Amino acid sequence: MCRRSCRAFSTPLTRARAGVLASLALRVAAALAVPALAVAAGATSTTAPTTATAASATMTAVRFHEYGDASQLRLERAPRPVPRAGQVLVRVRAASVNPYDWKFREGRLRAYVPATLPFTPGIDFAGVVEAVGQAGAATAPAAGGGAAAPSWQRGDEVYGFVAGAAPGAYAQYVVAEPANLARKPASMSFEEAAAIPVAALTAWKALYDFGGLEPQGARGRRLLVNGASGSVGLATIQLAKLAGLQVVAVASARNQALMRRYGADATLDYRSQKVEPAVVPPVDLAIDTVDLATAAASARVVRPGGVLVAMNVTPKPPEVPACSGAPPGLRCVQVPNFQPRPGVFQQVAARVADGRLRMEVGAVLPLADAAKAQELSRRGGTPGKIVLRVD
Ligand SMILES: NC(=O)c1ccc[n+]([C@@H]2O[C@H](COP(=O)([O-])OP(=O)(O)OC[C@H]3O[C@@H](n4cnc5c(N)ncnc54)[C@H](OP(=O)(O)O)[C@@H]3O)[C@@H](O)[C@H]2O)c1
Repeated sequence: MCRRSCRAFSTPLTRARAGVLASLALRVAAALAVPALAVAAGATSTTAPTTATAASATMTAVRFHEYGDASQLRLERAPRPVPRAGQVLVRVRAASVNPYDWKFREGRLRAYVPATLPFTPGIDFAGVVEAVGQAGAATAPAAGGGAAAPSWQRGDEVYGFVAGAAPGAYAQYVVAEPANLARKPASMSFEEAAAIPVAALTAWKALYDFGGLEPQGARGRRLLVNGASGSVGLATIQLAKLAGLQVVAVASARNQALMRRYGADATLDYRSQKVEPAVVPPVDLAIDTVDLATAAASARVVRPGGVLVAMNVTPKPPEVPACSGAPPGLRCVQVPNFQPRPGVFQQVAARVADGRLRMEVGAVLPLADAAKAQELSRRGGTPGKIVLRVD
């Protein structure tokens, strides 16, 4: 099924290439005409810090005080978060931009995800461990349980994600649970590492928690990934190829070569080709990252008894109406969130550590351009991930 040789992706993005991407991204961001954020003097939150030391500790962060458009994002002084016992304070060097960030800022998810305003967006990040919450600090609630949490020390270079609606990583510092961090490979930049967690964990969930496949037992099965040049799609292609699946990937014409570079066996351009009738024979599993209309089209090329997994839907019980008109016996589910089962992030990190899993960084912008970065994400078209550099 390979139109070209399907090769592994152990070559990291070089810093030189990252630099070119960064300057390209800055030009694109400038074209979006969203003003860079400036730090508002004295704009600290009224949230009470938990220790006397923390009372004087502030940081630069991007926050919104009300739900709304990108103009709600402010670069301002905010209290530095204080880790509870066992939690890890990370000095952020790069924060990834997810579609979730601007959907959440727009208030679309407020009925499902409670958050305290002002709110700092940013789910996944990379940085350097600054401190670990000591006994005597407030105790953190149990974090997921299961696998033994790794222990971290000041100076460790890590990447990871925040849980639930915790304050995010568009900031100089973020607090994370120890099990939600992994060691950053030395060969990988902070930007590349920050781009991985949400995309890879969502892809894992789609393939294995909802798609009915086993990481070691999917050889020869057929997968359609619709919306495959974005971050979730590229992670899905790579994990699927590692599990031995045959992958058909769909995105626009300009991203056909990218999808093949990440391992797709066959690719389609959604502007000139429809998945039905192009995808034959039917696939065992379709993962659709685009919307309910495309999910319904994806469902029609799944074999009877197969599975459709949809991503881009409002969180609600895991049923989507996309199966109407699809073959009998098709199971349609949605991924409600990316939060992994215990131990899954470590399995993802093992694949990152040995170079089998990586993420395309399509644009790097400074933290002050968070509004531009979110607009870039909302407009679409940037391959892989948009990342904020935090100095
Ligand atoms: N449920 C969850 O837990 C969860 C977790 C993470 C993400 N998500 C959601 O999953 C979606 C994808 O996330 P992402 O980070 O991968 O987004 P992204 O980077 O913006 O990727 C979007 C992809 O869709 C493609 N696309 C756009 N229009 C299309 C069409 N009509 N037909 C086929 N493909 C089309 C784009 O291709 P081109 O750029 O080539 O046009 C791109 O490959 C977002 O809606 C996000 O909110 C859900």
